Amino acid sequence: MKSPSSDPVRLNRYLSMCGIASRRKADDMIEAGRVMLNGTVVKELGIRIRPGVDQIFVDGAEAVMVKEPQYLVLNKPKDTITTLSDEKGRRTVIDLIRSRERVYPIGRLDRNTTGVLLFTSDGSFAHQLMHPRFRIPKSYRVRCDNPVTREHMAMLRSGVRLSDGVTGPADIRSLPGGKGTEVGITIHEGRNRQVRRMFELLGYEVKSLDRVAYGPITYEGLIRGSVRKLTIREIRALRRLALGDEE
Ligand code: URA
Repeated sequence: MKSPSSDPVRLNRYLSMCGIASRRKADDMIEAGRVMLNGTVVKELGIRIRPGVDQIFVDGAEAVMVKEPQYLVLNKPKDTITTLSDEKGRRTVIDLIRSRERVYPIGRLDRNTTGVLLFTSDGSFAHQLMHPRFRIPKSYRVRCDNPVTREHMAMLRSGVRLSDGVTGPADIRSLPGGKGTEVGITIHEGRNRQVRRMFELLGYEVKSLDRVAYGPITYEGLIRGSVRKLTIREIRALRRLALGDEE
């Protein structure tokens, strides 16, 4: 199987994947003439290289990617905390991942929210995905205590005022089977407890909240509490969303 990292990548990204410097610091190193590409000093920012094919030296030492970055999806169960460790001994998402490599959750889900939670060992990629600028769509299935009225659906669709500002436009639809209490909502922001707060504001109690998709990634075929690696196609789709023209 072809590795995603064998695709051309920007030199600064490659240096950050080698653990040499952040992308910005890597740019400084390139501009300072400290980086050689196939025997020649490169000062051109934005140049792309082929990992495993081109030879990169920094300050005379070869820059090699030690490990492939990991990309995982967990179908998070209830009663699990999105944190790297919990001093009270509660079950964390990391307990379920059981990765030998250090991986970071991309965003967070509340303790009792279920569904799609992504992880990666590539900290800078995680950072990019979480940046509000990229507006990654996140879709949820919400079950409320009472049927959600059409008027409230319209309000949630156009934006409601929460304590930290007005929410952006959302896609919202009633789902079959719940007698109006179950709705699907897609938001493009990731504020703390955002979906719960949006419904609570209008007087609903959220009985269950399930994230069914994060960008192009769903938990289809993955039982609750289990984890799988993302496919190369999924990684590429995520990169396209997060990195735009950089890849
Ligand atoms: N919105 C919430 O309210 N909770 C989550 O866990 C995710 C989104």
